[in-house]
Amino acid sequence: MKCLSAFAVLLLLLGFKSSEAPHFTNPSDQDLEALIAQMSIEEKVGQTCQITLDAIHQTDEKGGALAPARIDQAKLKEALEVYHIGSVLNVGWHTLTREEWKSIMTDIHAPYLKKQQNIPILYGIDAIHGVNYTVGGTLFPQEIGLAATWNPDLARQMGEVTAYECRASGIPWNFSPVLDLGRQPLWSRHFETLGEDPVLGSQMGVALVEGYQGKGAQVDEFHAAACLKHFVGYSASFSGRDRTPAFIPEKYMQELYLPAFKAAVEKGALTLMINSGVVNGIPGHANYNLLTRTLKKEWGFKGFVVSDWEDFIMLHTVHRTAASLSEAAIQAFNAGVDMSMVPSNPQYKTYCQDMIKAVKEGKISMERLDDAVRRILYVKKQLGLFNNPLPNLDNYPLFGSQKFKDIAKKAALESITLLKNEGNVLPLNTKQRVLVAGPGAANINMLNGAWTHTWQGMDTSFNTKGALNIYQALKYQLPNASISFAKGAELFLQNDFEASRFIDINNYKKALKKNDVIVICVGELPSTEKPGDVRSLQLDEKQKELVRLAKAAQKKVVLVLLEARPRIINDIEPLCDAIIQAYLPGDHGGMALAELLSGKADFSGRLPYTYPRYDGVIEFYDHPGSVARAKSGQFTAYNPQWNFGFGLSYHMGVINGIQMTAKDENKGTFSIAVNVNNPHLQAIQMVVPVYLSDLYASTTPENKRLVDFNKVTLRPGENKTLEFSFDAHTLKRISADGKWRAEKGTFEIICGENKVVLELFNDLLF
Ligand code: BGC
Repeated sequence: MKCLSAFAVLLLLLGFKSSEAPHFTNPSDQDLEALIAQMSIEEKVGQTCQITLDAIHQTDEKGGALAPARIDQAKLKEALEVYHIGSVLNVGWHTLTREEWKSIMTDIHAPYLKKQQNIPILYGIDAIHGVNYTVGGTLFPQEIGLAATWNPDLARQMGEVTAYECRASGIPWNFSPVLDLGRQPLWSRHFETLGEDPVLGSQMGVALVEGYQGKGAQVDEFHAAACLKHFVGYSASFSGRDRTPAFIPEKYMQELYLPAFKAAVEKGALTLMINSGVVNGIPGHANYNLLTRTLKKEWGFKGFVVSDWEDFIMLHTVHRTAASLSEAAIQAFNAGVDMSMVPSNPQYKTYCQDMIKAVKEGKISMERLDDAVRRILYVKKQLGLFNNPLPNLDNYPLFGSQKFKDIAKKAALESITLLKNEGNVLPLNTKQRVLVAGPGAANINMLNGAWTHTWQGMDTSFNTKGALNIYQALKYQLPNASISFAKGAELFLQNDFEASRFIDINNYKKALKKNDVIVICVGELPSTEKPGDVRSLQLDEKQKELVRLAKAAQKKVVLVLLEARPRIINDIEPLCDAIIQAYLPGDHGGMALAELLSGKADFSGRLPYTYPRYDGVIEFYDHPGSVARAKSGQFTAYNPQWNFGFGLSYHMGVINGIQMTAKDENKGTFSIAVNVNNPHLQAIQMVVPVYLSDLYASTTPENKRLVDFNKVTLRPGENKTLEFSFDAHTLKRISADGKWRAEKGTFEIICGENKVVLELFNDLLF
């Protein structure tokens, strides 16, 4: 029997009811056990219920949110006193001021602080590229851009800033990072991923978690709980449409899709959200093997698992693995989901009633219910919520500060990736006359993408004051140059799909004649989830036509891509002198891009995915086996537009040697030293990736795969030696018999043009 604190034992002996329960301001695990022991079924079920803010918010007669945002006291009272709900999420309409957040949080936490409740509420939000639902918050590049920095330290800093600003808004739980692997470029949420590679994704994801939660197990009032999502395989939708089925062979599930989640769980991530889709025929929310066996039992995950939006309901209405809503709740809960994002009113009431009945009828065991509640209370305790659910919101002087903005700009600077620079058309010089054009040239929303002030990020009325678009930022960076603007084409929504039209096209054509360099900013409208589904990866025709017109006018063309997913541009690529992938660089992306274009800063971003050349061909750098022979011309088995890891700098660093410094051919451990050099008169940053190639194996090995990387800064002329050490886990793959094994044989370790060889003498089984 667990040992209860004397106080807890006393309370148990007295047989107190929860409402009479004292406040454990700093509860021990035993205190939490005591709390669970005296909770009613209704109270326990309530802890597993998460509702959206809209369910307890003041609305007008038509259900629209009132401004300023205020809690509806009657709805809150009902949710807390009748249903005992444990968590609230989001804001359904738009970004709120800190004053509004303060008023909401003060009301939500008042019953706990007045000791009318003995368990504090946990509030969660999607602050996925900075605190995007608080006015004045610091907006970073979206995750795909963050991955392109190849700089885990920046990811850590982004996590810290975001957590701080969440806490400054009264919010201790962030639904981030997305650890889905970006291997389906059609997917509307490709930009929310850390790219296609499990090693890059794991390292950047773990760094984000460290940034969000801070160092110790206990999270202080400047950090927030992370939420790993969406466990697992959501990004691999076969059709490319959001929330549609995926098929993932066990080998790839183990080798590619699970590692980032496992690494982040080992780092102590406190919560995890489930994939809304179906993988290999099983809905994510009904997958006992993944949720309970793998995550909780095998990996020892101590936190709690939250469903995605309405996903208990979806088991019945969409996935049809449950014949009723109550069966759906039982299925998901018994599979291992601890909290249901129900989240609306009156659905949440039905959920609570169904769950209470299911427990009373024995369809959900008390043991399982207690397990979920224990996990939820554990997270609340780790966040210090029992002690104080609402630290003084005036104690966050760095919110929206220049210091934070500088970090966000640095992240944008290090993400933006130079893909082509023929004839050194870049950097721009002040003598050139520059025309900035295209739908993205003067558009802050296209820099930020979705999850920015609103869910889809399209509404311009909430844009951050003072954020500069690309055109404004270029004028700021090159005040003495001739810089003009002509849009040429614009994007709009037609029947829910993106369409484009020329605008001001005659002006654009005239302006072409008067200028030397045309910076054409193209991309897509902000969108995510279902509204972001597309039918093709092609960049739309009107935007391409701007490039053709500029080339026909014999101008230098600089193409800037503002892309949520890589768009096919193989037909216009030869017409461009320079091409820049800016991803979705955030509020500070305009300034960062202008610094790079003007040569005040150098590029150091590298692609976090294989950029596709053809609409119908999806391929990855770590494809199995060697490249098969060409069918004809260029159409080989592997022929992307640009490789994973590709990117140029004005001043490229040099990898000029690799040595094996230690190895054990029996244990499979090895260390290498890589020599890098900066041959330039400027300081540089360079990404140094280390790849591994297993020459022969029982299952066709990848032609090469990333095993580690480093991003270093080198002073002018500096040489540096970088050390990398590996254990045998680096060599292992799922063998033909389905087991993790490092198979004996020859491995090449590759860095730049250099390689060293490791012989493994025996098979190692894991
Ligand atoms: C998304 C999640 C998000 C949740 C809460 C869902 O629709 O799939 O990523 O965290 O909504 O906003």
